[in-house]
Amino acid sequence: MSTSPARTAPHGDPDHFRHVLSHVPTSVVVVTAQAPDGPAGMAVGSFTSISLEPQLVGFYPARTSSTWPRIRDAGRFCVNVLAQGQDELARRFARRGADRFADLPTTAAPYSGAPVLDGIVAWIDCELEREIELGDHTLVVGQVIDLGVTRSDHPMVFSRGAYPGLN
Ligand SMILES: Cc1cc2nc3c(=O)[nH]c(=O)nc-3n(C[C@H](O)[C@H](O)[C@H](O)COP(=O)(O)O)c2cc1C
Repeated sequence: MSTSPARTAPHGDPDHFRHVLSHVPTSVVVVTAQAPDGPAGMAVGSFTSISLEPQLVGFYPARTSSTWPRIRDAGRFCVNVLAQGQDELARRFARRGADRFADLPTTAAPYSGAPVLDGIVAWIDCELEREIELGDHTLVVGQVIDLGVTRSDHPMVFSRGAYPGLN
């Protein structure tokens, strides 16, 4: 006879959903763009590789995001893959109401011209390919135009609300 796995809250409870899904570790990237009104960037844990031929990547901004529409206006964006230890950058690019680029050294990505942050492990420069609305988030698909590895170090990992290092 089989038994059911443990469940600690009723199915459908949003806090339970968040708690359970926090056990799925993610990368942390900062998606940047040179928007018409200046540099834009947001921390993203939902980045994923989608297709090799053609080369496509994606991420899911919330429908409430005020930064995503600015990145969309640029039509191009750069994915900055944070390194282990760049916790302060992750926090900075999730904070609302502050100038996220204040006193931050950056260079320009070759295709999009989007800010590339110092100390990241890799960058992926994209053309916005399409957007698909899914629930309270949007799937954003980017066609990869150029990409590179900038530092030989572990990427940042987000798990259970924290940034545990890899060894
Ligand atoms: C580790 C981490 C992962 C995040 N992942 C996402 C994500 O996948 N999608 C999203 O919309 N926001 C995500 N956020 C939150 C956004 O960075 C932040 O709430 C957003 O930029 C809010 O400001 P905005 O109105 O400028 O978009 C994440 C934040 C952190 C710290």
